[in-house]
Amino acid sequence: MSPKSQVPGPKLPFVFVNMAMSADGKIATANRVVHSFGSARDLRHLYELRATADAVMCGARTVEISQATLGNGGEAFRRRRLKNGLAEFPLRVIVTGSGSIDLGAKLFQKRFSPILVLTTRRAPQKKLMELGRVADEIKISEGAEIDFRAALRWLREKWQVKRLLCEGGGELNDALFRAGLVDEINVTICPKILGGRLAPTLADGLGMGRLAEAEKFELTSLKRKKAELFTVFLRQH
Ligand SMILES: NC(=O)c1ccc[n+]([C@@H]2O[C@H](COP(=O)([O-])OP(=O)(O)OC[C@H]3O[C@@H](n4cnc5c(N)ncnc54)[C@H](OP(=O)(O)O)[C@@H]3O)[C@@H](O)[C@H]2O)c1
Repeated sequence: MSPKSQVPGPKLPFVFVNMAMSADGKIATANRVVHSFGSARDLRHLYELRATADAVMCGARTVEISQATLGNGGEAFRRRRLKNGLAEFPLRVIVTGSGSIDLGAKLFQKRFSPILVLTTRRAPQKKLMELGRVADEIKISEGAEIDFRAALRWLREKWQVKRLLCEGGGELNDALFRAGLVDEINVTICPKILGGRLAPTLADGLGMGRLAEAEKFELTSLKRKKAELFTVFLRQH
């Protein structure tokens, strides 16, 4: 082992993604009207995963469109969280590089756990001030892009986030994949075809340019429950 590889790197949270996907690989319809198409069992699965996470992260469009509050899923899951040694509610991490997020989103009205915002210097000062009134802390990446590695290190060090659940959407997922930060993917494959070349997928954004850059995962669990397939992929190191 080289001396360099013996130096432990700064700790990052374990990042796991959870998404429902249609049989044709979409996570919503092209017009974004349909954004929830999994079964009640899939929703339970989402809360089960949340019950193992210190924090849940979403992109701005997902927060606005789904009007999700990123809560714990109710009393049974609250108890499960406590049993798992976690806080009653997950921390909520919102990604908005330009600060465009709608401050009227439902999430900001629910004050059950801290809201942390990841943004960049692209966000106008006025918006940062407005965000400062609804968020518990704002982490600004210098420059135009979010430095996710640094942001995740900050989440680990400052907010003790050991397990970070990313619930999309496609643009945020893609940035995490490209930065090599995703450890596990949970995908529920739903027996529906949503179609549409502009419909969002599990990883949109810029994507990879070459096969060699593709993040590699291996399927570690595959369970059929009624009409849906619950899959888990782990990153190959
Ligand atoms: N089926 C499922 O499980 C599932 C789960 C989640 C979402 N969805 C669907 O997915 C759709 C939303 O996905 P989406 O890809 O359009 O949006 P998204 O990833 O939720 O949000 C995109 C926005 O988040 C911010 N953002 C994301 N990545 C960033 C980066 N690398 N750097 C800086 N800012 C970043 C930007 O905000 P600014 O514009 O402020 O810069 C960007 O415009 C919705 O239709 C939703 O219903 C489906």
